[in-house]
Amino acid sequence: MFELGRITNILLEDHIDYTAIRDACMALRNIFFEATGFDESLPETQAHISTEAGLAVGPLSAAFCITDMLRTRVFLRGLFEAIKDRLTINPSKPVTVLYAGTGPFATLLVPLTTRFTPQQLQMVLLEINPVSIIHLRKTIEYFHIEPYIALLEEADAVQYIIPQTCQPDILLSETMKPALLREPQVSIVANLATQRVDAILIPECIRIEAAFMPQLSHPNFSVHPLCVLLELTSETGRQLKDGTIKQPVFSDGVVVEITALPDSSFTRLSLLTHLHIYKEHIVQFNESSLTIPQPVMRTDEITHWPASFHFQYLFSPEPHFLVAQL
Ligand SMILES: C[S@@+](CC[C@H](N)C(=O)[O-])C[C@H]1O[C@@H](n2cnc3c(N)ncnc32)[C@H](O)[C@@H]1O
Repeated sequence: MFELGRITNILLEDHIDYTAIRDACMALRNIFFEATGFDESLPETQAHISTEAGLAVGPLSAAFCITDMLRTRVFLRGLFEAIKDRLTINPSKPVTVLYAGTGPFATLLVPLTTRFTPQQLQMVLLEINPVSIIHLRKTIEYFHIEPYIALLEEADAVQYIIPQTCQPDILLSETMKPALLREPQVSIVANLATQRVDAILIPECIRIEAAFMPQLSHPNFSVHPLCVLLELTSETGRQLKDGTIKQPVFSDGVVVEITALPDSSFTRLSLLTHLHIYKEHIVQFNESSLTIPQPVMRTDEITHWPASFHFQYLFSPEPHFLVAQL
């Protein structure tokens, strides 16, 4: 627990020291691997699970998310602040965090047990992968954090009904890839946010935008934004579920008209992911695997100008954007 406390302190620091953050994430990975006897060579730790709403990545891929170091840091800092905010409102009641898609170690929440008591923090842990669940139980045992666990369930967070006795103050999920591709973040938020209107959602907002971009290595790199395609918040999650969503990208799609390429340095049409975790805690452009630009097409493939593009977000076992030049 001393080591977990040391790592957590580094990751929650205001000041960014990249080497210290990298080392802390590696140490966190090592301590979780030791706690659970994690064997990355086993086929069952590698297997993903395909669901109607998206891919649930296997324990090994989930474990690797730890070393996406700025992602891990910003999520922890945002969650830390959200818990403190809820405690300020009502210090005599524990804050319940529902964590959908914990992976094998509940990486984004277990470190915070070094900062809060079980009287301040309670967890509802959901994970669809049974092998991750086995590791999660070992993690809890290793750190003696049983008093923090209100509920631990092997369940599909897209279908899950939150029990009346465990109503969360905070909903947390990181089941996404850049541009909300492949994994079920949107469907999970739609299901959970509908059941708990007052809960803080983390990430608070995920915004996907179409943009022209040069190569990342371009000496005068800049982004030319074209259109915000979607915003996933607690409110839009609920609107998706009850069918009142006003964002056309989820239904007939959005048409974006562009008169001309600003200049020839813009070689890609891409999808950008803005990841707003909580308050001022933001995972910045390209600083995490979750915010890397997702190329859609090369601009020299655009057949005519002015150009019109149709963007539509499709729900399927592999959620994705359908993009076509009209
Ligand atoms: C990208 S990993 C993130 C792991 C960890 N939360 C982290 O941030 O480091 C996503 C996790 O969510 C789980 N997951 C995906 N879809 C799920 C679903 N529908 N219900 C419950 N868990 C799900 C996957 O099995 C995987 O463990």
